[in-house]
Amino acid sequence: MNPEENKIQAKKIVVAIDGHSSCGKSTIARDLAKAVNYKYIDSGAMYRAVTLYCIENGLFEGNRLDEETLKEKIQQIHITFKHNQTTGKSDTFLGDRNIEKEIRSMAVAEKVSPVAAVGFVRQALVRQQQAMGIDKGIVMDGRDIGTIVFPDAELKIFVTARPEIRAKRRQAELSAKGETITIEEVLRNLETRDLIDSTRKDGPLRKADDAITFDNSDMTIEEQNRRMQDIFKQYATY
Ligand code: CDP
Repeated sequence: MNPEENKIQAKKIVVAIDGHSSCGKSTIARDLAKAVNYKYIDSGAMYRAVTLYCIENGLFEGNRLDEETLKEKIQQIHITFKHNQTTGKSDTFLGDRNIEKEIRSMAVAEKVSPVAAVGFVRQALVRQQQAMGIDKGIVMDGRDIGTIVFPDAELKIFVTARPEIRAKRRQAELSAKGETITIEEVLRNLETRDLIDSTRKDGPLRKADDAITFDNSDMTIEEQNRRMQDIFKQYATY
């Protein structure tokens, strides 16, 4: 290990990354965690996992969610992350099942924000997320990480990008997975989710007062990684 890395290890911090839908938070968070040898947690995957559980267990009647049944079941929904050697990324598991592919579908994206607005769902997941960060050395991305999950995080980033750029990025991601969808549909989904996420009572999406705004509309992945690592070094070393 070189001395620079040693310094980073010496003072482990919590990095909270929040922002709008599809602005690249997960890529930023994952790449940063990898570069500095931190744990990475995608909190959105946890809300998506609960949503998939609701869909598969018939808790949705059209758009109506059976909250009463979900409340009874929430403690039995076990979500974990496991490293995938092939992709080099971490996969989301619901019980023993790898659900990484299913939770990224449009079907889940369309139902996730109402599920994530339910108070007891947030309480259960926030508790798990806080436990994951107890030893620091973690990068977590989501909507309420810097405000609710880790209000004392040493480094908070609020990521944003222009809506049309976000829609294009998400469309490309879905299309790579074989899901064909128009740019208008993607845009509509992003805007609806952002509206629900920002206006809900519990853990609304908002920039923490001490967060750094990071607009990556015109940045390449390499550039955003370089800038993030520069910011990180200012906070994690002394
Ligand atoms: O990838 P994208 O940014 O589109 O979404 P995500 O991070 O996978 O999160 C999916 C949804 O989960 C969001 O639209 C929010 O409704 C919800 N979420 C949340 O409420 N709180 C979090 N900490 C993370 C996600």
